[in-house]
Amino acid sequence: MTLRQGLLVLSAALLGPASVVAQDHPGATAYREVCQLCHGAAGRGDIAPPLVPLGFDADYVLAVVREGYGQMPPISTRELSDDQVRQAVGYLAALGAAPAPQAAGSSYDGPRTPEGQPDLNGIWQVVNAAAWDIRPHNAQDGVPAGLGVVENGGIPYQAWAAEQQEANYANRFEADPVRQCFLPGVPRITYMPFPFRILQTPDHVVITYEFAHATRIIYTDGSPHPLPNDFWMGDSRGHWEGDTLVVDTTHFNGRTWFDAAGNFHSDALHVVERYTPLTPYHLDYEVTIEDPNVFTRPWTMRMPIYRRMEDGLRLLDYDCVDFILQSMTAPEGAAR
Ligand code: HEC
Repeated sequence: MTLRQGLLVLSAALLGPASVVAQDHPGATAYREVCQLCHGAAGRGDIAPPLVPLGFDADYVLAVVREGYGQMPPISTRELSDDQVRQAVGYLAALGAAPAPQAAGSSYDGPRTPEGQPDLNGIWQVVNAAAWDIRPHNAQDGVPAGLGVVENGGIPYQAWAAEQQEANYANRFEADPVRQCFLPGVPRITYMPFPFRILQTPDHVVITYEFAHATRIIYTDGSPHPLPNDFWMGDSRGHWEGDTLVVDTTHFNGRTWFDAAGNFHSDALHVVERYTPLTPYHLDYEVTIEDPNVFTRPWTMRMPIYRRMEDGLRLLDYDCVDFILQSMTAPEGAAR
């Protein structure tokens, strides 16, 4: 058995069932608390060289840690016990043991991050008519027809809320918050007809949207929602269930809509999004909506999200404040 095979066996023993991903490895904490400062997240290297793939055995690493090595200072048993160092070595070995185990029931076999999660980095876009109306609707001037994205029938509005939605629809050109250049909220930002970029790190997923420079920082570090507060885009906390990124968003200010047709919610909105990569080029996007102030039960939307494939593609600028200022200051009768 080679050294590397030995490490793989060791790490497999530490990992337990193959479905446990490297980030949950018992040595991950020791690594993050002490070694990550210099060797970078997931052993990818920072001010010190990368440690993945790990070309050393545990005894050698232990000696380096205790005695120091060149620029690396010695680390005492008070900071990390021998067992903790060995566990950190197991973690590094697990990170290097690519490809990561596939989650049960997953059909995804595309690229993965060093932590073993599907690599979602890149530019994505929804291609449908949900931004105009999430329900099935006919075409109108400037509005493409759509089959709707709401699953299992219509939106379960309470009686008063169904009337409110109709009033919103009648006043949509004045009342739609997006027409006043407010942030679209979640999930509307996802299916605006603009691209967005996903940036994935071991403990955050950041989504930057071309529309109005909107940004979401989705914390995947296990931290809870903050104390009561309200945000246009809510507060997003994520975790991975197998290959699915599950994002829980609350703390909305209640002033956003779901679309340009007046479908709405209150500040009690609770959104759970599930991003599941099916291929490297498309995600299944499922959203569960809960809002006991407005709906009689939770309901879901579902649609694909597509990877944009153009060479050299980047997010451009859509600054709607600028357009509103221009139209306010344009001389009477000027061409728009
Ligand atoms: C204060 C920064 C720092 C910390 C903390 C640190 N290292 Fe290092 N480590 C370094 C530097 C710098 C080097 C490269 C030294 C050189 O080549 O001169 C290094 C090198 C190494 C090497 C390679 C030795 C070789 O033979 O090439 C190993 C293995 C290693 N570190 C493991 C660890 C582990 C495990 C931890 C956590 C328990 C850790 N290090 C914590 C800075 C650090």
